[in-house]
Amino acid sequence: MPRTVESEEYSLKNEKYQIRVRELKKSFGGQPILKGINLDIERHKINIIIGGSGHGKSVTMKHLMGLLKPDSGHIYVDGIDLVPMSDYQLNKIRHKFGMVFQYAALFDSMNVFDNIAFPLREHTKKSKNEIKDIVTSSLESVDLPGIEHKFPSELSGGMRKRVGLARAIVMEPEVLFYDEPTTGLDPIATKNVDDLIAGINEKFGVTSVVISHDMASTFRIAHKVAMLYGGVIVDSGTPDEILLSKNQNLREFLEVSGVL
Ligand SMILES: Nc1ncnc2c1ncn2[C@@H]1O[C@H](COP(=O)(O)OP(=O)(O)O)[C@@H](O)[C@H]1O
Ligand SMILES: [Mg+2]
Repeated sequence: MPRTVESEEYSLKNEKYQIRVRELKKSFGGQPILKGINLDIERHKINIIIGGSGHGKSVTMKHLMGLLKPDSGHIYVDGIDLVPMSDYQLNKIRHKFGMVFQYAALFDSMNVFDNIAFPLREHTKKSKNEIKDIVTSSLESVDLPGIEHKFPSELSGGMRKRVGLARAIVMEPEVLFYDEPTTGLDPIATKNVDDLIAGINEKFGVTSVVISHDMASTFRIAHKVAMLYGGVIVDSGTPDEILLSKNQNLREFLEVSGVL
């Protein structure tokens, strides 16, 4: 059985935090990448992890999703530690999660309808008509109604991201993970994707975990921000709080991003 956290501090805050990471460590080929991550993800909020490239953001997110096993530490999802779980148990937990990949990896050989229907056909027993209705409404939720017949190659980068998001929400996840969702988009498409992340968060009441190195996006939509630097979370808080951070690495990052 997965271990349940019983400490008072945890159970008191159980409603507030959906995911809690404690002392998470991971090395690759003897090279330490995560050096003791401590991080709390607030339920129903937009939680953004910022940091420069190569500091371990994607590796951290893969651990939260149960795609990588740490060397040590704990990842509590709704109070249950993922770390000791078997693949079978992890697969069940992953049903809570939706993933919007860095490059919105759509299948190029499938049209938009089949891309979005894919997880429904793979993981549910829904009928053809049910699937059709769900695909239609998911495209409406991302402001792309009626593009079912188009192929990914016919879509702009921003539209592909939206279709990736539509595919993630059809499984009704509790937590949506986004790894650099606006990378490679121009400022207008970036703002559109930001608005969409905020809109989906609100409309479906999901918990959003977003990796970003885009400070404009972060300050536009984040409820909580955590800065990853050199394999640890050096500071975290609301956007207003982190603007006042005394952490040197965070201040430098905000300065070079033109925020301070
Ligand atoms: N599967 C892996 N095997 C070996 N090294 C890895 C693996 N995944 C990530 N790394 C290394 O870990 C470091 C952090 O990577 P990553 O989390 O992707 O950084 P970022 O903060 O840019 O998302 C990088 O040096 C990367 O090369
Ligand atoms: Mg990354």
